[in-house]
Amino acid sequence: MAAVTAHQTTQKTLGTANAAGGAGSTAAAGETDAPAADHLAAFDAAVAADERIEPRDWMPDAYRATLIRQMAQHAHSEIIGMQPEANWITRAPSLRRKAILMAKVQDEAGHGLYLYSAAETLGTSREELLDKLHAGRQRYSSIFNYPTLTWADVGAIGWLVDGAAITNQVPLCRCSYGPYARAMVRICKEESFHQRQGYELLLALSRGTEAQHAMAQDAVNRWWWPSLMMFGPPDDASSHSEQSMAWKIKRHSNDELRRRFVDICVPQAEALGLELPDPDIRWNEELGGHDFGAIDWSEFQEVLKGNGPCNDQRISQRRRAHEEGAWVRDAAAAYAAKHAPAQTSPRTPASASASAQTSASAQHVEETA
Ligand SMILES: [Fe+2]
Ligand SMILES: [Fe+2]
Repeated sequence: MAAVTAHQTTQKTLGTANAAGGAGSTAAAGETDAPAADHLAAFDAAVAADERIEPRDWMPDAYRATLIRQMAQHAHSEIIGMQPEANWITRAPSLRRKAILMAKVQDEAGHGLYLYSAAETLGTSREELLDKLHAGRQRYSSIFNYPTLTWADVGAIGWLVDGAAITNQVPLCRCSYGPYARAMVRICKEESFHQRQGYELLLALSRGTEAQHAMAQDAVNRWWWPSLMMFGPPDDASSHSEQSMAWKIKRHSNDELRRRFVDICVPQAEALGLELPDPDIRWNEELGGHDFGAIDWSEFQEVLKGNGPCNDQRISQRRRAHEEGAWVRDAAAAYAAKHAPAQTSPRTPASASASAQTSASAQHVEETA
């Protein structure tokens, strides 16, 4: 339960004033409407005090739009991200690896679900967001436009891609928007499992035969740079960063998080017995972190524009899955429609008991809403 925020208090006060006005107050018209500046001041104060903004709170339109854009992109990334790894489920080298990979891919579907639900609290619908994804009007993380060529790619994705996701997402658990922050807590716990399974998979390959070691190294070579790009453009070229940080949606800059990720990966690569494909990585005593080589941002821009190796494949497979899943949505809607009137139909002893249970839960929902 979130603490009552300063702006909620303001809204409650205004609500009381409005009710009083409606009950016959002779206060001049307009006095009871909060000026927009008051709402904004209350919102700013809540953000400054590190309080959570909740769905029913007043918020600036641009804050709402930014959150919808970011949460939608995040949700889309979770479900598109299922594709490159699902590619290996049928070819996993053992039953154990297959079970782990299936669980991981299923987790990603769940992450999409939490995030679409959290985005819906801002007044959009999942259908609308999916339509935008399918029409190319909303993005997903460009990392998922790279192919998974060998089994070692499953390990490299877990270690590097899920690892980068954790570095990005742990600070989001303190995001100013309550439903997003709370969704991230569970997501981060699961991402942590994903990262460890990738690391363990790569470790097994690295310590295996010469060919297995080479396969692990090749996967790391291909996924390293795209993983660094996951943090987004450099700070001086990031159009949304400054405002997102002022709103406390974002807590750290792209470059800061990227550097933190490199610092985490360097000792881990050493423990894995694998090399990071960057000869310029070296410890910088003054900064207390690692320096690293220049990122090829032209590649990032090309992939963003749709020219990555798998852009077309990913989006067409997503559209196809959506179309092929239409019968499931139709069946669920038909079931819901059929189930609703059943509660008011003449009672048999069995249905009466079921109906009593349903009404009891409905009442419970009403009481706790
Ligand atoms: Fe995820
Ligand atoms: Fe993950």
